[in-house]
Amino acid sequence: MSATATGRAAAPPLLEVRDLQVWLPGRGGARLHALRGLDLTVERGERLALIGESGSGKTLTALAIMGLLPEGAEVRGHVALDGRALLTLDEDGWCGLRGRRVAMVFQEPLTALNPLQRVVAQVMEPIRLHGLAPDRDAARARAMALLDRVGLDERQASAYPHELSGGQRQRALIAMALAAAPDLLIADEPTTALDARLRVQVLDLLRELVAERGMGLLLISHDLALTARRVDRIAILYGGRVMEQGAASALLDHPRHPYTQALWAARPRLGGGRDQTLHPLRGNVPALAQLGDGCPFSSRCPLATARCAVDPPSFDGRLACWEVAS
Ligand SMILES: Nc1ncnc2c1ncn2[C@@H]1O[C@H](COP(=O)(O)OP(=O)(O)O)[C@@H](O)[C@H]1O
Ligand code: SF4
Ligand SMILES: [Mg+2]
Repeated sequence: MSATATGRAAAPPLLEVRDLQVWLPGRGGARLHALRGLDLTVERGERLALIGESGSGKTLTALAIMGLLPEGAEVRGHVALDGRALLTLDEDGWCGLRGRRVAMVFQEPLTALNPLQRVVAQVMEPIRLHGLAPDRDAARARAMALLDRVGLDERQASAYPHELSGGQRQRALIAMALAAAPDLLIADEPTTALDARLRVQVLDLLRELVAERGMGLLLISHDLALTARRVDRIAILYGGRVMEQGAASALLDHPRHPYTQALWAARPRLGGGRDQTLHPLRGNVPALAQLGDGCPFSSRCPLATARCAVDPPSFDGRLACWEVAS
């Protein structure tokens, strides 16, 4: 905890991630350096979008925060929720935290829901598990109110997951994640399986819920254009590193990092019509084994120099790039 100008200790951020590094087991005993020193913060009532193409390290970041990394992963750095260190917790230590203080909406709703249980029963589970209602009837009433809030009626609440549409299932998952009133919600690509209209609806619902509940939101997406105007701040991830971070409006009006500029240039424009010229990013995010020691974006960057391939630029709180000054 740091001291303010008045001498009082400043409250820690709701979520603080410092120099988060993750290694995964690879073939033949190799260790793959997947997250390479990530810094993030989320305050209460704040929406931070973590944006990057597939393979950038977004899901691993969420799993590291939730203490759910795959078997054999090694993690270093500092992750704290309200000042409480998370990386050193064992499963007992997570009790009362995971699902209660920090909850996650996973990418694919059908696999995240139990196919054999009605939706309302699944929303009741965390309420009962964390002792948030005195009895079954009260837990059911709380679950029904939450399902109503996310836009599901009584019939849909009493249905099995396969009886709902993709958008309804995603709403059910959001209700489940919110059931224990978490302080921090992590939503990993919550709209990927939905059509364009439903994507906007779900993102708007998340925005309203953050405002109503004062929780923090870490919204993970590959879609900068869709997400950007619905969050407060944006962190751009590539090759397990934050490339650029800032207030959403500033970052969109003046994207500085070559990767952010490329992502922004690749977006489809409203009113651009079928014939609009897109500027797709060349190539893909390299596989972990192919990422060298330098700047992870060097193999695709139009500004790359010889230095970029061998020497990784450090992140100064705004940018990580040798060629663009903060
Ligand atoms: N269990 C795993 N074993 C090996 N590599 C993995 C595993 N999970 C993810 N990776 C690799 O780590 C990198 C980041 O993955 P991920 O966090 O899932 O990316 P994103 O969510 O941004 O698409 C990718 O190169 C991916 O192939
Ligand atoms: S450090 Fe070099 S390769 Fe990386 S983004 Fe900047 S100019 Fe491009
Ligand atoms: Mg992912």
